[in-house]
Amino acid sequence: GPVARAGAGTWSFTPVPPNRADEVSVPDGFTTDLLIAWGDPVTRDAARFDVRRQSAAAARTQFGYNNDYVGLVPHPRRKDRALLVVNHEYTDEPLMFPSGTHTPQQVLEVAIASHGMSVVEVQRGRLPGQWSVVRPRSARHNRRLHDRTVFEMTGPAAGDARLRTSGDPSGRRVLGTFNNCAGGTTPWGTVLSGEENFNQYFDASGELDPRHAASYARYGITGAGRGWSAVDRRFDLSVEPHEPYRFGWVVEVDPTDPTSRPRKHTMLGRFKHEGANVTIADSGHVVAYMGDDERGDYLYRFTSRSTYDPRPSARARRHNLTLLTEGTLWVARLDGDGPDDGVHDGTGEWIRLADDRRSYVPGMSVAEVLIDTRLAADQVSPTRMDRPEDVEVNPVNGRVYAALTNNSNRGTRNPPDEANPVSSSYVRAALGAPLTRASGNRNGYVLELEPGRGGHTGTTFAWNLMLVCGDPQAPETWFAGFPKQLVSPISCPDNVAFDAVGNLWISTDGNALGSNDGLFRVPVDGSRRGLVEQFLTVPLGAETCGPFIAPDQQSVLVAVQHPGEVDGATFESPASTWPHTHTFPRPGVVVVRRA
Ligand code: FEO
Ligand code: CA
Ligand code: CA
Ligand code: CA
Repeated sequence: GPVARAGAGTWSFTPVPPNRADEVSVPDGFTTDLLIAWGDPVTRDAARFDVRRQSAAAARTQFGYNNDYVGLVPHPRRKDRALLVVNHEYTDEPLMFPSGTHTPQQVLEVAIASHGMSVVEVQRGRLPGQWSVVRPRSARHNRRLHDRTVFEMTGPAAGDARLRTSGDPSGRRVLGTFNNCAGGTTPWGTVLSGEENFNQYFDASGELDPRHAASYARYGITGAGRGWSAVDRRFDLSVEPHEPYRFGWVVEVDPTDPTSRPRKHTMLGRFKHEGANVTIADSGHVVAYMGDDERGDYLYRFTSRSTYDPRPSARARRHNLTLLTEGTLWVARLDGDGPDDGVHDGTGEWIRLADDRRSYVPGMSVAEVLIDTRLAADQVSPTRMDRPEDVEVNPVNGRVYAALTNNSNRGTRNPPDEANPVSSSYVRAALGAPLTRASGNRNGYVLELEPGRGGHTGTTFAWNLMLVCGDPQAPETWFAGFPKQLVSPISCPDNVAFDAVGNLWISTDGNALGSNDGLFRVPVDGSRRGLVEQFLTVPLGAETCGPFIAPDQQSVLVAVQHPGEVDGATFESPASTWPHTHTFPRPGVVVVRRA
């Protein structure tokens, strides 16, 4: 209705200019509240945060490090509350520990325990768009998922021989989730979370079993880990060669039931999952779009075997909770229609890899396709993309938007094609410095897909590069044809979200134009299609995560990830002290609303 449509989609603002401030900078007329940050209490028995005396046990009760995905799920009983679900992707040890306060072993233990996810009850404030955290004592849904939390494997590869370890002979119960990057909320009130760069957590104390060499190589599992095997032997490939097969999945968490066991869905394949976003197709099937965030890797899609039951009953919900366990996994090929039309566009096809009953990749079983999804996809000639990140359906126009963040190998190892055309791009060494040319795609794209016959479960689509990101002065940039002098510079799109009007919101990671990262709003239809405007910037060294437009459209939630992550920065000499509660930086979630 009209009330729901007011707000974020219609906010008018003067774009925030590129800057290097150690602040979350928002336009005049807006204000920012810190909602929660690293070390804040989550569980009712949470330990008080003491940066000089950290422990794994305490970390498992507190808000973890490097918040990434942010979702708000309706509270099952209270309209004035919601359940905030956040990923904790990875750790920055040099910024987390005062020197001399912890042993190397303690540092490793805390780092491992600071990964995972948090569920936190939040409460509406008095003013529109205001949210605050509920005291853990009064928040019975609060939950911290960490390295000791049991996750259940589902789908055709659950229990497969390669998922079995000495700690879990069933191959069905995995401890922990790591490197959870982006995600999505489902229509049935759960949160999906992508296990992304899990390959970095495995050490090798000795020889590696050659039977795993091809798979390890394709997933970047080298045995040059982060030393975690000193804390937990399962992270030693020479001891537990199967442990890495238990990561790289899409996780589903039901925040409405604090006793529920989170699950890892093998039917959605195994790769460096950025995240997963579901939509309900006209046929009622659930479709999840997914990116594999690696240079030259692929876009994927899952379609469910069964259909979504929209009824509000407990029985319908139980059914919906099974939808991601059976279906079909697909990978995308994009063909260009040639450069003569002046636009990077064409048609594409979804290529079937496996369903829960049979494999369509010669020589590979269903379980093999799901566990070694990259190797399976390599056999069917999909299009090598420039690091597919978040992929999400616009709920207003039904088209699919994918952030392709950058690819330094484009033009060398990965030859250019119409869908990945930029093999050299203009970058800026520092704010105010001149534009200089660099090899590869440094600023990224936003890809728009329009499903063809059969909609989201059909096999064909049309596509175009709606944005070729970068400085508007750079000749290669393209903003859907909108006059370039009116748009904000944008570089390295990572996560996407939509407001109720259907505008696309884009957060960035790794700005190659010398400025801090930020959040941008861009209409995708009408006369303003392509008008990219910067809504905020994050502090020095930080990446913009989330973002999440609150369902009432009155606030935008952003996760400020790795503030102060700058070469050479340490706890004692930080590049950022955001959110300025301490002398060191703390990743945290902010709520932006009208002042
Ligand atoms: Fe963790 Fe692909 O960003
Ligand atoms: Ca064309
Ligand atoms: Ca990301
Ligand atoms: Ca990223």
